[in-house]
Amino acid sequence: MKKMVAFMASPRKNGNTATLVKEVIRGAQDAGVETTIFNLYDMNIRPCQGCQVCRKTGKCVMEDDFQNMFKHIIEADAVVFASPIFVWQITAQMKLLWDRLCGLFDENHKPRYAPKSLIMVYSQGNPNAQAFQTSFQSNEAMLKMFGLNVVNTILLTGGLDPNTAANNQELLLKAYEAGKTI
Ligand SMILES: Cc1cc2nc3c(=O)[nH]c(=O)nc-3n(C[C@H](O)[C@H](O)[C@H](O)COP(=O)(O)O)c2cc1C
Repeated sequence: MKKMVAFMASPRKNGNTATLVKEVIRGAQDAGVETTIFNLYDMNIRPCQGCQVCRKTGKCVMEDDFQNMFKHIIEADAVVFASPIFVWQITAQMKLLWDRLCGLFDENHKPRYAPKSLIMVYSQGNPNAQAFQTSFQSNEAMLKMFGLNVVNTILLTGGLDPNTAANNQELLLKAYEAGKTI
């Protein structure tokens, strides 16, 4: 059975990001994928201390909620990172997670594990879909170094109201299909 792990990084637990990631998961479940979701605002993820041990060993030395999340990533076939845009980028909770992922590559920046499919979910207030593409591209290039290859990006625009995604049938379907075809 394939495994998917999703990380939701919005403080609004019923907001747009949450709505879209739930659709991705529903699609994956309908395709028989085993799914797990972590709500990052409920997690204790300490900031990376820069000790560099993970670069040698592949393992972070800090014992907090990250350890279980990292185990899920290693075992997953597919990963979902879902975040609203706060000041042009992913939220700080997602960045805390990403900084801790350096154990996914070795000292030569080569992934330690087989490539995984990655679905990105973003929700932004700005109605212009082009507004933060440079951020998205740089995220994609960085995550590829970890062996996480973006296969689909779900982007909600104009999402200041937390119910915007729930009223966007086209995007909900796109999110569902992204999960289903993983
Ligand atoms: C602190 C903060 C910073 C934000 N910065 C941006 C931004 O730079 N660009 C933007 O388009 N929207 C910005 N927004 C709006 C959110 O991205 C938008 O409301 C998003 O849909 C929230 O997702 P959610 O419903 O999943 O929480 C910001 C919101 C907050 C609270």
